[in-house]
Amino acid sequence: MRIAVVPGDGIGLEVVPAVLPALTLLDDRFGLDLTYETFDWGAERWLDEGVGLPPGALDLLTTDYQAILLGALGDPRIPDMAHGREILLGLRRGLDLYVNHRPFTPRDTRQTVDLFRENTQGLYVGVGGTVAQSGRTAVAIDECVYTRETVEKFVRYCLRALRDSGRERVTLVHKSNAVPHTGQLWQEIFRTELTHFAELRGAEEYVDSFCYHLVRDPSPYEGVIASNLFGDIVSDIGAALMGGLGLAASASICPETGYGLFEAVHGSAPDIAGKGVANPYATATAAALMLDHFGHSEAALALRRALTATVHSDVATPDMGGHGTTTTFMADVMERLEKDSTDGSDRSEPHA
Ligand code: NAD
Ligand code: IPM
Ligand code: MN
Repeated sequence: MRIAVVPGDGIGLEVVPAVLPALTLLDDRFGLDLTYETFDWGAERWLDEGVGLPPGALDLLTTDYQAILLGALGDPRIPDMAHGREILLGLRRGLDLYVNHRPFTPRDTRQTVDLFRENTQGLYVGVGGTVAQSGRTAVAIDECVYTRETVEKFVRYCLRALRDSGRERVTLVHKSNAVPHTGQLWQEIFRTELTHFAELRGAEEYVDSFCYHLVRDPSPYEGVIASNLFGDIVSDIGAALMGGLGLAASASICPETGYGLFEAVHGSAPDIAGKGVANPYATATAAALMLDHFGHSEAALALRRALTATVHSDVATPDMGGHGTTTTFMADVMERLEKDSTDGSDRSEPHA
């Protein structure tokens, strides 16, 4: 298995190189046979050469690699994020990674909410434009586009994944009162697909009221299905419920090809970039999702266990109230991984 590594920008350039040695260590210990190759796609290359996703990149990724581990994109020198859309949205759409799994475990409940976000369409399709008047934008349009084919295969995949992991409740998040055309397509498909899953109890909530209820009490939620933009917003709320954006991870997958892109939920965090204090937990957890995806569940569990112990120690990074740095955090994780392999003590499932 070959993994393409894209650190990207800002803290992505700090957390990804910090996490890679832990993956190599796991590789040695569990014999995973994963290899990592780093690509310099991001703001620097965009500014130097005008290149975002280089020509042929999608073909190369499809033929020579099975997954991507990504840091983050975003740079204050490119305020419109043109490079980020080309690279990040280009990868998600170009590789048809239409399922974005963003699980989060609220601090007070310790029960994971499996958030699934549609990852290729909706308001992210890039259909739209502007009309200028007297040299200024007078009209701006971003179209929300959903096709039956994509919503059906997405909803079906999510319901199957939830059922197979023993979840019983699933909530569709929508806004069909104000955005009726795509909203009602989602509702119709959700209701139809649900009839094939007797084990699942379905509910539908308007996204505004859903956010209200989620923040007040996340405990009733098990599976959540959302369109692209709603899922993006809800995943940051989920991260806040966990204790911070430094903790939340994400897997974008194409169920048909098995291809995966694994990344944190957070961005390039320009406010702390270059200071060495970014929390690598989210990116390391994204790597754990990748290990799970390839069936290396023991290695994923070992990594999660070490991460949980470190994030509860005083080597935690400042966002979690600790005195650690990106480097000391991962050094502590590696130490625990090494110790774990020699004494083999705790085999329990960790809680963040
Ligand atoms: P952000 O997620 O980068 O940061 C939001 C806040 O969370 C900041 O205060 C930041 O310091 C903090 N934070 C985030 N990750 C952290 C970590 N690992 N450790 C400690 N603190 C952390 O969101 P933003 O500031 O709105 O966006 C910055 C740039 O990133 C923008 O260009 C945006 O478009 C981009 N972005 C990219 C991605 C991605 O690549 N997947 C995701 C979100 C935002
Ligand atoms: C995310 C980010 C991206 C998104 C941006 C940077 C395009 O916010 O991965 O959550 O909206 O999907
Ligand atoms: Mn986001």
